[in-house]
Amino acid sequence: MDKHPIITDLETRKTSKHYDPTRRVSSEDMEVLYESLRLTASSINSQPWKFIVIESEEAKGRLEKTFARKNFHNKKHITDGSHVILLAHNPRYAIEDFAKVVDTDIANGRGDNSSESRNRALSKFSFAESKMDATRNNAEWTKAQVYIALGNALHVLARLDVDGTPMEGIDPELISEEFEQELDGYVCEVALVVGYHHPEGGNAKLPKSRLPRKDVLKIL
Ligand SMILES: Cc1cc2nc3c(=O)[nH]c(=O)nc-3n(C[C@H](O)[C@H](O)[C@H](O)COP(=O)(O)O)c2cc1C
Repeated sequence: MDKHPIITDLETRKTSKHYDPTRRVSSEDMEVLYESLRLTASSINSQPWKFIVIESEEAKGRLEKTFARKNFHNKKHITDGSHVILLAHNPRYAIEDFAKVVDTDIANGRGDNSSESRNRALSKFSFAESKMDATRNNAEWTKAQVYIALGNALHVLARLDVDGTPMEGIDPELISEEFEQELDGYVCEVALVVGYHHPEGGNAKLPKSRLPRKDVLKIL
């Protein structure tokens, strides 16, 4: 039996460790990536994220500054990669944020705008509340949603034949300072570099390596 194309995509996708600084991802491919981020599923459709795209040389320079204290090995991905996406989460997702989702749902034809129906939809916010600590921080839950977008993006990049490097090796504190205005209180703890691997060096020719299925999957 032929290998399913999804499996081929996932086997050939590799986190690039060395980017070709001469190549840029087309705006058509970036558009697909942006839409895939926006269309990502999230708990109660909360969408508690912001995706900040670092494309210009000026923005890259600002991001490079945030590698002043740690994770130096990741800095060259910023310089050599084509784009970087900061995936940020809202650490205090509140009822006002969810109301925006509910009103968008109504505008998109999912539910009517009677106050009874709107209130019923809003009551789902109790789930976000159940994830809050005593200070109304629900970052652990909103951050988990951002990782769904990251996973989605990695698969989309594989289909587009574009390379990517997810990076937790960043400095959230310095990123918060440098991009304070753009983040507007959101927190970035993971970023995604997008580009094309360098023809020499890096890990592009290494085989994919994962634990055997018996160690990670059980069918009951
Ligand atoms: C959440 C996450 C964070 C990661 N952080 C980094 C990072 O900071 N720097 C880096 O070079 N690779 C990073 N990686 C890449 C992993 O090392 C890589 O995905 C893993 O070794 C599997 O290799 P593959 O993606 O080529 O299959 C990260 C991957 C994930 C999913």
